[in-house]
Amino acid sequence: MTVPRSYRNIVLCGFMGTGKSSVGRLVAEQLRFAFLDTDHVIEARADKPITEIFAEQGEAAFREMECKVVKELAERKATVISTGGGLVVNPENMASLKQHALVVCLWASPAGIYARVKNQNHRPLLQGPDALEKITALLAERTPFYKQADVLLNTEIRSPREVAQQVLHQFRIARTAPVPHPTH
Ligand code: S3P
Repeated sequence: MTVPRSYRNIVLCGFMGTGKSSVGRLVAEQLRFAFLDTDHVIEARADKPITEIFAEQGEAAFREMECKVVKELAERKATVISTGGGLVVNPENMASLKQHALVVCLWASPAGIYARVKNQNHRPLLQGPDALEKITALLAERTPFYKQADVLLNTEIRSPREVAQQVLHQFRIARTAPVPHPTH
């Protein structure tokens, strides 16, 4: 049996540094949707930055916080949701997001990602001298999960504004011709 997908929201997923937050804000502005970033929700609740959550409670605790936020997102409508880079690696999270949103994955090569993140220090998984190697390995590991998104968009050859236009275009297509999906 199949039921029509509900596209009430847009989810942006993808690796760190692919521009999910900047693109998400632009898309939300255009659609007059709310904008929500799962990392910001977690930081606000924990009242500390992600680096501290990782250092004090560990990555597993952070992933649990992500799962909790994902469950709550099912209530949202008219929202553009930017997700942390590892969130959709949990298939349950991806499945849950697809219940209410068009899931768009923003893509870039390891070199492109490295160029964007190398001067930033708020991502615990990319700290240390071998960031490019970490990015290459983690991206390879996560690729099968990112490919589960409804739409995959290469961000390397486009400005955030152009990527946002592509997201809007895909959202309009999805809303006019919803694709049924299997219920099991
Ligand atoms: C992570 C990505 C980060 C943040 C955390 C872990 C990841 O979010 O959730 O540092 O596992 O890829 P951004 O993708 O917004 O940087």
